[in-house]
Amino acid sequence: MSSSYIISIDGPAASGKSTVARKLAEKLNITYLSSGSVYRAITYVCLSKNIKPSDENLKDFINTQSFNIEHGKVFVNNQDYSKFLSLPETENAVSSYASLACVREFALTLLRDVAKHESIIMDGRDIGSVVFPNATNKFFLTASQEVRAKRRYDEFCKNHPNEKINLDNILAEIIKRDDMDRKRELSPLIVAENAILIDNSKLNIEETIQAIYNSLHKKTGEA
Ligand code: DC
Repeated sequence: MSSSYIISIDGPAASGKSTVARKLAEKLNITYLSSGSVYRAITYVCLSKNIKPSDENLKDFINTQSFNIEHGKVFVNNQDYSKFLSLPETENAVSSYASLACVREFALTLLRDVAKHESIIMDGRDIGSVVFPNATNKFFLTASQEVRAKRRYDEFCKNHPNEKINLDNILAEIIKRDDMDRKRELSPLIVAENAILIDNSKLNIEETIQAIYNSLHKKTGEA
């Protein structure tokens, strides 16, 4: 592969893209960045200052905050934001902030800057279509809605053994989320041009990584 390269991995919720992207980055010894963590950090800093998505000062506010991304971690005003990114309040609000044009524009600049000086694997919804349309390698991971719902269900049961959860409700959430991601006006979830689509309904994480790895090497071999 060339000295510096960008691998984009897009896909719907629970397609396994973040786990696959993180492990693949370790295997290739390059940086992994979840673009969702940038949207989550913007969301949390706004929530912490009570700036709502409808607030007309939101654009000015985020422009006064200092965002840095180092080794795949997001720092805001020199504070490591990792622990705030999966808080329920962040999780519940992030899609409202991520759908705003000024937030997407702000995130786009940050995400593109990261790849200026290093090779990177980035996952998200629009990495191969909008953020890096010229990425070296583009992948789109997906799986059936039923398989993705079962993965979420199993993950929840593992992390919360004493709580009950209904698989049908999770499936309904996945269907709703897919619909929102695909139909939203800005940067909808699409299979980017030249992206390799991998349906991992019948593959585990290691098999999915291997499928991507094989395709990277096949491409290099052909070049
Ligand atoms: O991948 P994630 O769950 O961390 O994403 C958090 C939110 O950010 C989710 O609402 C989708 C949105 N997002 C986006 O709009 N574009 C991206 N490239 C990545 C995430």
